[in-house]
Amino acid sequence: MRQIKLQAEVEEYDHFGELSKDEQTLVEAAQKVATAAYAPYSGFFVGAALLLEDGTVVSGSNQENVAFPSGICAERTAMFWAGANYPGKAIVKMAIYAQSNDFLVETPVYPCGSCRQVMSEYERIGKLPIRILMVAATGKTHAVNGLINILPVSFDADNLKRQ
Ligand code: THU
Repeated sequence: MRQIKLQAEVEEYDHFGELSKDEQTLVEAAQKVATAAYAPYSGFFVGAALLLEDGTVVSGSNQENVAFPSGICAERTAMFWAGANYPGKAIVKMAIYAQSNDFLVETPVYPCGSCRQVMSEYERIGKLPIRILMVAATGKTHAVNGLINILPVSFDADNLKRQ
C-alpha cells in the first residue's frame, strides 16, 4: 500500500478589491449577472463570469425549475454558453459570486461537483489552468489556479481509452 498525498492551494482575500483591476471587473460582471438568476425556489442567486482567451467575457446565472433537478447552476449556464457560442476559445478565468434573499453569504461559494466536472473538461481542451475566483456577498474571496485545487482527481477522457 502507498499513500498518495493530494495538495490544494487556495488564496484568501478579505475583499475582492484586493484583486487586480481586471479581476475586479470580472467579479463585477458575476455580481451583475447574479441579479438575473431565476431562483424562486432557493432564493440563492449565483452569477458566473468567464474570461475567454480572446478577451471575451461570457456570463450566466442559475436557472431553476419547478422540477428541481431540471435546473442548472450559474457556472454551467456560462460554460455551456461559451462552448456553444465561442467553440475552441479557452477559459482563462472564472468569477463566481453568490448572494441570498434570506441571509448574508459570508463564505465564498465553491462550484458543485457537476460544475467542477464540466470545468475540468473545458480546462483540459483549453490546455490552460483556469483561475477561479469565488466571491461571497461580503466580498470575501477565495482564488485557485487550476481545477487541480478543487478537483484533484477526476474522471477524464483517458479513462475511456483501452490501455
Ligand atoms: N448554485 C449555483 O448556481 N452554483 C453553485 O456553485 C452552487 C449552487 C445554484 C443552484 C440552485 O439554483 C441554487 O444555487 C441553490 O443550490
